[in-house]
Parts: sequence; structure tokens; C-alpha cells
Amino acid sequence: MGTDYMKAEAKSPHTILEKYTALLDISSRLNSEKNFDQLLNLIADEATKHVDAERATIFILDKAKGELWGKVALGVENTIRFDSRLGLAGAVLIAGKPLVVEDAYRSPLFYPSIDSVTGYHTRNVLSVPLRTPKQEIFGVFQVLNKREGKFTGDDEHFVQALANHAAIALENAQTFSDLETRQQELIEENLNLRKEVEERFTTKSILGTSQKISDIRALVERTAETNVSVLITGENGTGKELSARAIHYMSPRRTKPFVAVNCAALPDTLVESELFCIEKGVATGVERRVGRMESANGGTLFLDEIGDLSLTAQAKLLRVLQEREVEWVGGRRPVPVDVRLIAATNKDLKQEIQENRFRQDLFFRLNVIHIRMPALREIRADVPLLAMHFLKRHSREIGREIKGFTQDALKALTAYHWPGNIRELENEVKRAIVLATNSEIRVEDLSESILEERLEIPEMESSTKPGEKQSLKDRVTNLEIQMIRDAMSQTEGDKRRAARILGLSHQGLLNKLKRYGLEE
Ligand SMILES: Nc1ncnc2c1ncn2[C@@H]1O[C@H](COP(=O)(O)OP(=O)(O)O)[C@@H](O)[C@H]1O
Ligand SMILES: [Mg+2]
Repeated sequence: MGTDYMKAEAKSPHTILEKYTALLDISSRLNSEKNFDQLLNLIADEATKHVDAERATIFILDKAKGELWGKVALGVENTIRFDSRLGLAGAVLIAGKPLVVEDAYRSPLFYPSIDSVTGYHTRNVLSVPLRTPKQEIFGVFQVLNKREGKFTGDDEHFVQALANHAAIALENAQTFSDLETRQQELIEENLNLRKEVEERFTTKSILGTSQKISDIRALVERTAETNVSVLITGENGTGKELSARAIHYMSPRRTKPFVAVNCAALPDTLVESELFCIEKGVATGVERRVGRMESANGGTLFLDEIGDLSLTAQAKLLRVLQEREVEWVGGRRPVPVDVRLIAATNKDLKQEIQENRFRQDLFFRLNVIHIRMPALREIRADVPLLAMHFLKRHSREIGREIKGFTQDALKALTAYHWPGNIRELENEVKRAIVLATNSEIRVEDLSESILEERLEIPEMESSTKPGEKQSLKDRVTNLEIQMIRDAMSQTEGDKRRAARILGLSHQGLLNKLKRYGLEE
């Protein structure tokens, strides 16, 4: 007993200390190696060196398939796969304990097919399980053919210790390479999407041949090159957002985010946390979250419906614009931000300023360049072109082959006053594509409101004798009467609602009803 102890003392301290110092060194190298294959080689290499074996194999469990796959390291570049219940590796996987086999071919557990695949002759094997830090077995580590004598208890301990370190590095590398693959996929996906988006949102997407639209395209292009704030005004559906995107995607900021914030949909209490930032502890259960302002960093922040921002929020926004820094709610330090601002509204901000609902200083900040989108009825000549564009786009999407519009249908579309502008036209075309029974969209396929206006106009025209041109004023009056009648019948005579639909004050409507004798 005493001599045994002495013998161990005499032999071990040196080699064991050496081995474990080596292990420390290996461990740090393992952790810096992120390439899975190289990591396998490194582990196998070190194992064979320190236990004086010929080779090492690492088997990883493929849970989904119930297979072990092994990369035979050192010399043979072969990958083997087999049922995870087979062989010495399978036995270790099941038992969860190290296993030393002194004569492989005499062990009933040995699975000789592996040798025949690799062309290698296994004599003796030391196998240990590979476990995750949570002690879940995910593979088996084997060293084969000790050069002299048998695998010792020391060898077993060393290989197990090495396996424990290796397991962590292998798991990290696996996760890492998964992440790397996924990230690569994402990068490619992103590039494709970006190209698509960039192509989609240039001034080419702003269709129209009328002078007003051409001017807007030119203005958008010139503005895009600069960093100045832009205010885009116009009725709903006139292409404000489309123009804002065109500015962004034609600007040097195009590779950075375009972040749109709908100010109208922001409850007053959320403005700060949405635009700026929130950190845990500020509101219970809220994680630190990047505000929109911060996520637009380097890019463009599009403040849609800016006219609907509360005065409090306007004050905060103004401060950020002046300081170009974001102070987190409850945060410690302000974060510098570089955003280009584009704001849009369908309101008359000058009017809003007069009524003390909009800050003049904010208005001046935003209104460096002003782009005014025309209502569709101001650019009627572009209706056919736009209608055809939407027809092409949506008939493909909806999956109906519709070639075009009849002459009458186009006339009706052109004559309508389009309170919802280009968006309404787009929806009308979509609806007609679905309803059309022919390969062309006919008048009958259009909405009632469009047809009513159309019926009214020919009547007005036929009531004037040929050659005797109706004056602009008369036609406008007729149209006005028609619209008032529509609104009144739509609201079943509710004058307040009718006034709202028509964009008139209550008194304004009463005056007109009286003037045109429409009171009852
Ligand atoms: N000049 C245009 N050419 C082609 N499509 C347009 C044009 N203007 C607007 N659109 C389309 O009309 C719809 C409404 O435009 P949008 O920019 O959302 O309007 P707004 O922001 O002014 O309400 C969108 O589908 C947009 O692509
Ligand atoms: Mg909009």
C-alpha cells in the first residue's frame, strides 16, 4: 500500500501536473476556436498526444435522426453515420459512463462495420461521454489504440477532463456556426430585399405625366441629395408616404432604416416611449427597448400625421431636433442620433398654429422644404395612366386576366372627384378587378358613387345646346349641388354629418342649401 503510494508519487506529480497544465492551455485554445471542424481536429490532436494513442474520434448525436455522426480526425477525412444504439459509442451514450475496452474485436459491444468503412483496425478504445453544461449527453469522445500497453485510469481521467472542456467549446462552436449560417442567410435575404425596395421606391414609382407630378419628382430628387427636413402636405391618399420613401431611397441614407411613425395612432402617454426609449424599471415589466428615433439612426424618421401630435410631444420632439441627442426615459446618458426628418400631414399647419394646436418653432424646423401633393382631381389627366398601372399590378396579384377599361369606364373614372385620391382609385380598381365578368372593366363594374357623378355630368352636358359651352362656373355649381345631394342622402338628411363629409362648416352647408333651394 505504502509502496504503491510512493510509486504513484514518484511517477505522477510530474506527468499529471504537466497534463493538467496542458489541459488549461488546450482549454483556452478551444474556446477561441469557433470553426467546428478545426475544433474537432484540435481536440483529437491533443487527446492522442497526451494519452499516446493513434487517433481520436468525436461522435455527435443527431437527435432528430437517432444517429451518431463522427468525424474521424487525423489523417482520414471521413464522416461516418450510424444508428446511435450501435457500437461502443452507442453503449457509452446509453450508459452515460466512460468505457475502456482492451480488445475491441472481443467485445460484444464493438461494431466492426466502422472499421470496414474507415479501413482502420481498432485494437483498444477509451470512450467518454460528451455532456453539455446542463449534463445532457450530446456525443461520445473516443481515443483509439494506445501505442504501448493499456489505457490507464489517468488516461481516462484526462480524456474525460478534456472532453468536458471540449464539450463546451463544441457546443459554442455549433451554436456559433449555426448562427453564422443563419446570419449569412439573413444578410443575403436582406440584400435582395433592399434591392427590391430600392427599385420600388424611387421617383420612378411616382407616376403621372402632369406638370404638378413632374415638378414633385424633380423636387424629390433634389431634396434626396441633401439632409434637410421636408414637410409633405396633401389630402389623404395623395402619395405623401410614397414621396417620403422616394426621398429616403434616393438619398445617401438608403442603406439605413426608413422608420415610419404614425403620430395619429400614438396615444399621448406612449409618445415618449415610442419615439425615445424605455429602460427596465421605468415601467414595470418593460425591458430596455430601442426607441424609433434611435432605430432610425443614420437613416430617415418619417413622422406621419405630424399635425396630430400633442403639444407636449411636439415640445419633446423639438428638443431632440435641436440637440440631436436622445435622452432615454430614466436613462443615464443621452445618445447622439443622426436622423433625417420627413414629416407629413393632411392638415393645414398654418391654420393649426393660429389655433394654438401646433408649435410655430417646430413648424419652422420641419418646413425647410415643402412638398405639396396635389389632390387627384387636380391631376385628372393622370387618372387613366394610374388606373392602368393599378390594373396591371393588382390583376396579377389577384390572379385575374383583365386587359383594360372600356372607354366609358375610363371617362367615368376621370370625371369622378376622388375624395380619397390615388388610394381610393387604387381600391376602386382592385374592387373592379374582382367584380368584372369580362376581360375589360366596364362602367357597370364601378362603384355607385362614381356612376352617379357620371350620370349627372352627361345630363348637364346634354342640357346645354351644342356649341353653347357651359361656363366653368356653371359646371362647378352643378357639381357642388350634386355633391351636396349625395352627402344629404348618404346621411339621411343629417346636416352636421353631411357638412363634415363635404368639408364644410355647419353654417356653410346651411348657406349653400338655402342658396340652391335644397332645404327640404
Ligand atoms: N403618383 C403615384 N403613382 C403611383 N402610385 C401612387 C402615387 N401616389 C400614390 N400612390 C399610391 O397610392 C397609395 C396611397 O399613397 P400614400 O403614399 O400612402 O398616400 P398618403 O400618405 O398621402 O395618404 C399607395 O398605394 C401609393 O403607392
Ligand atoms: Mg399616409
